[in-house]
Amino acid sequence: MVDVEIRELMQPFVLSDYQVQEVYSRFCLEIEKGLRRNTHEQASTKCFPTYVQDLPTGDEMGKYLALDLGGTNFRVLLVTLKGHHEATVESQIYAVPKDLMVGPGVELFDHIAECLAKFVAKHDMHNAFLPLGFTFSFPCIQLGLREAKLTRWTKGFKCPGVEGEDVGLMLHDAIQRRGDAEIAVVALLNDTTGTLMSCAHRNPDCRVGVIVGTGCNACYVEHVDNVDLLDTDFKRAQKQVIVNVEWGAFGDHGQLEFVRTDYDREVDRKSINRSEQLFEKMTSGMYLGELVRLVLLRALERNKIFKLNTKRAAFVAVLQKNVDIFETKYISEVEADSFPEFPNTRRIVRQLFGVEKATVEDCQKLKYICECVTRRAATFVAIGISGLINKIIDRRVVVGIDGSVYRYHPKFDGYIREMMQKLVKPGKEFDIMLSEDGSGRGAALVAAVASKTK
Ligand code: BGC
Repeated sequence: MVDVEIRELMQPFVLSDYQVQEVYSRFCLEIEKGLRRNTHEQASTKCFPTYVQDLPTGDEMGKYLALDLGGTNFRVLLVTLKGHHEATVESQIYAVPKDLMVGPGVELFDHIAECLAKFVAKHDMHNAFLPLGFTFSFPCIQLGLREAKLTRWTKGFKCPGVEGEDVGLMLHDAIQRRGDAEIAVVALLNDTTGTLMSCAHRNPDCRVGVIVGTGCNACYVEHVDNVDLLDTDFKRAQKQVIVNVEWGAFGDHGQLEFVRTDYDREVDRKSINRSEQLFEKMTSGMYLGELVRLVLLRALERNKIFKLNTKRAAFVAVLQKNVDIFETKYISEVEADSFPEFPNTRRIVRQLFGVEKATVEDCQKLKYICECVTRRAATFVAIGISGLINKIIDRRVVVGIDGSVYRYHPKFDGYIREMMQKLVKPGKEFDIMLSEDGSGRGAALVAAVASKTK
């Protein structure tokens, strides 16, 4: 049992039933606003139509290139679709140097084109004509399958000269400038779309794609009649379309002020995209560790944890000086720990803060802090997913999920399911499946399905 002082400190992270219901209602309202033409402007969740309408059948064949930009790494992939729901993937990870994340956009795209050219050369494919699916995981207004205008950078990127531009064209131009590979950008997609596609490739009931990684977002399959922003020709030809909700921006118009804490406000103040992506800042890997650092610092300053530890002063100094020192991966490690040994927790406080003798009580308290921060994140994600499932007409809905937080946290899946049991309407059935490389395989599938449709 964790002591009452720490419970009190964490109280702002523990959502009451009323608060959960209220966030749920506000979220559903916001989705409707995003979909309607006359309210779209004011909506924080933009619900962008993706122009991806056909889900894969599993019989897609051929070789496709895929690019994946939007998390901590940038990847190039060669995906071979083999029919019978099968695919093989060869891939290479490239770093995106910190200065490129905030430097001129053209330089970022030149870097991407250079990595692409190296990859093609390494796989001896200079002479092949290769269709490419580009997973660009930032909010975009999709103008067609291969044209998408970036609306805002997120997740630590801030390259001037890209917002408002067609990123498909910027990539195309960068490839042309080099002129050493025959590559056609045939589709641009969000990672949530890739996740949905790659899960639908294996399970035809998949209707929702979710990412809980560096960023957080979802997409779902919607009937075209409910999507005002689609052009009429598309609506005439199709019944359904994938909608990219961009729920990371939920709360940007004040809807979450009643549940945000001082810690959330501090995280936002220090970010390079202030007042933006407020839901994302409470749910995703880029911010959860930082929330824990701020809470831990407050707990130490108020003498509620590591009370008698001889290294206290040094501990506080390290925490104060080093923003982001408590990475989100440590939350997963702490929450995986067992009583009373707490091997991970003891190692982490030793390595990061030089604390040698953490007591069992201190470890329990730190674990509780991590648990409250993650549980709240999972609750928000569950609210979003339930809102989408309840909106979809199918009785049974499978949700494809990916992202480092969901994948590596030992209890995130359990926390989400627990909350979804309460929020998904009676009579509906749901399941959650882990996506297998949505950003890579999913991008190739979108490219393949697009070629098939043509
Ligand atoms: C972006 C989304 C993306 C999500 C997960 C967010 O910051 O706005 O487009 O899907 O991160 O990568």
